[in-house]
Amino acid sequence: MSMETKWWKQTENTRDLDAQVQEASTLLKDKQVVAFPTETVYGLGADATEEEAVQRIFEAKGRPADNPLIVHVADEEQVGQLVAEIPPVARKLMDEFWPGPLTLVLKSNGTAAVNVTAGLSTIGIRMPDHPLALTLLRETGKPLAAPSANRSGRPSPTTAEHVYQDLDGKIAGILDGGPTGVGVESTVVDCTTEMPVILRPGGVTKEDLERVLKQVMMDPALADEKQKPKSPGMKYTHYAPESPLWLVEGNDDFFSRQLHELKKDGNRVGVIASDELAEKLDHYPLIRCGSRSQLHQVAEKLYGALREFKESDVDLILCETFSEEGVGAAIMNRLNKAAVKRIQTF
Ligand code: TXA
Ligand code: MG
Repeated sequence: MSMETKWWKQTENTRDLDAQVQEASTLLKDKQVVAFPTETVYGLGADATEEEAVQRIFEAKGRPADNPLIVHVADEEQVGQLVAEIPPVARKLMDEFWPGPLTLVLKSNGTAAVNVTAGLSTIGIRMPDHPLALTLLRETGKPLAAPSANRSGRPSPTTAEHVYQDLDGKIAGILDGGPTGVGVESTVVDCTTEMPVILRPGGVTKEDLERVLKQVMMDPALADEKQKPKSPGMKYTHYAPESPLWLVEGNDDFFSRQLHELKKDGNRVGVIASDELAEKLDHYPLIRCGSRSQLHQVAEKLYGALREFKESDVDLILCETFSEEGVGAAIMNRLNKAAVKRIQTF
């Protein structure tokens, strides 16, 4: 089934903007799904209290029904409407990092539609740090369930164009707020256990969290997932670009030699490289993703870079690996999931 997807283009005129938000909000109240910008990536929103509306998110994305959605709120009062309790740790994190790229997993009180939480007794909630998202939430007056607005398995969208590429004809509309700033998704922290656990690294770093909490741990399953790309023949199903992504772990000379070998064998290779590596390579096509010593730049550009190379143009994509410090943990988590192969010096 196909529908007309409205694309509300960016406007400086506040009266136009008000009208756009009004229109989007009316559709949301009518149980339709609308994409909107957040500070991390674009989200695909629906009224989190309406099962039928939420179902449309899963259908548009082709998302497996057992993967729960994050609920977006405009204020802390809305959190209280959705959860059984707010433990002190969660309160602290909300005070410190909201609005911002941090999702808190809390005990649900059952108010959200059952498909939002995929049947779990917990619910993931965040307050986005984006004026358009907050205005839309206030105008709609409902918490909005919103996963990243990509087709399931594809890189998350950091521009309205990316959303359009994936979901044109499948959703009611796209509110265009220009490119998103953080570039990787929110950090998901489980606050239902004795010690808070990072389930997904993201825009708020472990180091940020450690400044506020006595203790926080990484979900051990994250380390397992890191190993996966090493196993040959792994099918890529997360954040996947059109052509297979290979990661190169080693110094710049090593990267250069690998690239040379692959080209010699007749492969059409696309390269994603930091400014520092790009300076040392004489290669086209190449996409720069910022300085490796400014990892927030890499985070901002990563998903756009993964979408840039088309299957018709390159046989494979070669990308360097980055430090896992700070937001580097999120960058490497996504790259490891997107990659089918890893080449190492040792
Ligand atoms: O930055 C973001 O978080 C973006 C923007 C749109 O807000 N949203 C996003 O949603 O990345 P999504 O659906 O692509 O990722 C949600 C993640 C998934 O890994 C999901 O399993 C986890 O959050 N999640 C949601 N609710 C959960 C829960 N109750 N318990 C554990 N994990 C949960
Ligand atoms: Mg996603």
